Amino acid sequence: MKYAAALAIFAAFTLAACGGQSESTGGSASPSAPSAAAPAPQTTPEERGRRLFNECAVCHTAKEGEPNRVGPNLFGIVDRAAGQAEGFAYSKALTESDIVWTEGNIDAFIENPQMFLRGNRMAYVGQRDAEKRADIIAYLKTLK
Ligand code: HEC
Repeated sequence: MKYAAALAIFAAFTLAACGGQSESTGGSASPSAPSAAAPAPQTTPEERGRRLFNECAVCHTAKEGEPNRVGPNLFGIVDRAAGQAEGFAYSKALTESDIVWTEGNIDAFIENPQMFLRGNRMAYVGQRDAEKRADIIAYLKTLK
């Protein structure tokens, strides 16, 4: 009985050791897996921006002729004067501003809307990541 138990333990130990070894062999072979997945991150800024725009799309449409929502339609927004979307009731702060939506102004605005223009009605917390803002702007530039 005692002998059989010892044999079982020995067998289990040997199996575990083998298992461990074959696992580590698998591990050393796996670096090929990440490189196979590598092409995925090679998206363009415009594509990343289109995805990031989902945050904005809660309030904004982007295609030509789409209706205003909580916020105005943003088709053709880059380099346009503020407050021009047809049929949208802008805040006084925005209509009375003489902002032109250059890339720089959009960048500052979406980083922190209330800091950029006090009294505007865009209830968006802001995108603090500069690269993400650049991607969003790259996407906005395609809307023309
Ligand atoms: C919670 C709703 C909401 C979200 C989310 C939101 N916006 Fe807005 N946005 C508004 C509103 C409302 C206005 C109009 C503000 C005013 O009249 O003061 C506006 C105005 C703007 C304007 C100026 C439009 C013009 O015609 O002058 C730009 C540019 C803009 N938003 C971009 C964005 C971008 C880019 C995002 C995402 C990063 C975003 N917004 C997220 C509600 C939103």
